[in-house]
Amino acid sequence: MMLDWDTLYAECMSCQKCGLAETRTNVVFGEGPRDAEVMFIGEGPGEQEDKTGRPFVGRAGKFLDDMLAMIDLDRSKVFIGNMVKCRPPQNRDPLNTEQEACIGYLRNQVALLKPKIIVCLGRISAIKLIRDDYKITKEHGQWVEKAGIQMTAIYHPSALLRDPRKRPETFEDLKELQSKIRDLCTHTY
Ligand code: URA
Ligand code: SF4
Repeated sequence: MMLDWDTLYAECMSCQKCGLAETRTNVVFGEGPRDAEVMFIGEGPGEQEDKTGRPFVGRAGKFLDDMLAMIDLDRSKVFIGNMVKCRPPQNRDPLNTEQEACIGYLRNQVALLKPKIIVCLGRISAIKLIRDDYKITKEHGQWVEKAGIQMTAIYHPSALLRDPRKRPETFEDLKELQSKIRDLCTHTY
C-alpha cells in the first residue's frame, strides 16, 4: 500500500518491524525536498544520526558534504536516506532481514519523490537496489536504468575516509554524476 508522505513519516517514526527498533534512539527517515530529483542512499544511521534523527551528520556526513561541494551540489537540494532507518548496534552491517523489513519505506519514498537519479553510497545499498551480486570495486561509477530511474553507486564516504587512494576514482564518478544531473534534471543546481 502506498502511503502519502506524512502518513509514511508517522508510520516510520513508530515502526517496530525489525529488531533495530529495540536499540534505536531515533528513526532516521531521511531528508530533502519533496520534489528532489536526486537521491543518495547510504547504509544505515550511525551514532550521530541515531542521536539527532538526521542522515549523514557525523564524520562520514561531513565528508559527503565535501564530495557534493566538489560538484556544486548542496545537501539541501537532494534527498539523503539509508537502506535501514534505525541504527544497527555497533554500526554493524544491517542484516538482510532488517533491510527486507525496511525497504518498503524506501520504495514508498522513491514512488512519491519520483527521482531522476539514485546514487547508492557503498555496496550495501548497491547490492539491494541495483543487483544482488554488485561489485562496488569494479562497478562503481557505472550507470544502469531501472524503472525509468538512472542508478549508480559510488564508494561510501566512510570507505573514502579509511582509504584515500579511492578518492581520485570517486572524483571521476562525481564528475559523471554532475554531467548526468545537467542532462536529466530540470531544477537549477
Ligand atoms: N553512514 C551511513 O551509511 N548513513 C548515515 O546516515 C551515516 C553514516
Ligand atoms: Fe522499522 Fe526500518 Fe527501523 Fe526496522 S530499521 S524498525 S523496519 S524503520
